[in-house]
Amino acid sequence: MSFAIDFVRRQYPVFQAPETAPWAFLENAGGSYVPRQVVDRLTHFFEYTKVQPYGPFPASRAAGEAMDAGYRAMAGLLNADAADVTLGPSTTMNCYVLAQAIRPLLQPGDEIVVTNQDHEANIGCWRRLAEFGIRIREWGIDPDSGELNIEDLRRLVNARTRWVCFTLCSNIVGTMNDVDAICDVAREVGAHTIGDGVSFAPHQLLDVRSTKLDIYLFSAYKTFGTHVGVMWGRPEVMTQLRPQGHYFNDDQAHYRLNPAGPLHAEIAALAGIAEYLDTLYNHHFGETDAVFHARARRVFELFAHHETHLANRVLGALGRMPGVRIIGCPAAETGRRAATISFVQRDRSPADITRRLADQKIAVRHGHFYALRCLEALGIDDPETAGVVRVSLVHYNTENEVTRLIKALQVLS
Ligand SMILES: Cc1ncc(COP(=O)(O)O)c(C=O)c1O
Repeated sequence: MSFAIDFVRRQYPVFQAPETAPWAFLENAGGSYVPRQVVDRLTHFFEYTKVQPYGPFPASRAAGEAMDAGYRAMAGLLNADAADVTLGPSTTMNCYVLAQAIRPLLQPGDEIVVTNQDHEANIGCWRRLAEFGIRIREWGIDPDSGELNIEDLRRLVNARTRWVCFTLCSNIVGTMNDVDAICDVAREVGAHTIGDGVSFAPHQLLDVRSTKLDIYLFSAYKTFGTHVGVMWGRPEVMTQLRPQGHYFNDDQAHYRLNPAGPLHAEIAALAGIAEYLDTLYNHHFGETDAVFHARARRVFELFAHHETHLANRVLGALGRMPGVRIIGCPAAETGRRAATISFVQRDRSPADITRRLADQKIAVRHGHFYALRCLEALGIDDPETAGVVRVSLVHYNTENEVTRLIKALQVLS
């Protein structure tokens, strides 16, 4: 099945506009572009239904229905029940709220495992619990490869371990961690698991009916949608957590772990992600009565195949450049490494590289991307050189964009 990249790109206003179309946008791990299906729903909400939802008059009723469609879309994507999905302001905030909801259930001396591979969103909120007598154990990466070793986790957990918090895919290293193996180790000692899927979800689809995770989070603004943090939790686990919303909303599934309250228009627009994926499904496979999760899964298989090919071209070119250190695995493989590629180059600062790429209309960034602990562990902590260069591709990136990137990098080497 060949991937209809031109059809895909036609869904995105940004690829049609004269001022933005010439840019190769390779900074998707910071936030992806949005297709017209999402833009249209957001615009429609603001134009016609920008009122308090779930009231008795037509605009309010329509606003509520549009939001319900947003909840259904995110739940459907994950193969979840909508009642088990919280849509908060961001993953950082969802993690922070989770930490508050879990704290009253812990005793001094209980342990939480965090990694140093994660984005700080899934580290800092747990580390703060040390103030309340909780013991934080760090599962550290290999300083050369950036990878987590499951044997190290086995040595860290014990009867006091309550939670293991880890990333499904580091936003720096790009490796997809073995979720089932990690959850098995946690379960053996009776601990629960929290998986940050922010850098995983644009590339792979999680099925909550088969995952061993207890809680899964990702950010819809990195999966072609609006700025919303999506959190799914196993109901038998979530109902034990202390609600964090207004007391009269304790039994309201969408509110009990969202003290900020729902972002009406942004949630409504999430239904556009489902519409977009279905548009791609129908184009490639024709109409079907398979459930949405199954349709989305086939579309994500197309994404993964295309992205893996592009990632390997970039990795191959970087591997041949003298003085380049690629972070993580030097080859991509579907399900093993995302097209999120960080590197440093001897004798040239990341800032210089990204500036020169921008001169060629190639959008890439450098820095620590809020995974400062990961960079420190990798020994890339010189404040002068300011982090890594990160090239992050998703399914709408093209062969031509990658060719332009490789040529531009070769000139710099
Ligand atoms: C891997 C990872 N986790 C968590 C986050 C935080 O997500 P949010 O911006 O929704 O708080 C990010 C954001 O870049 C990320 O890349």
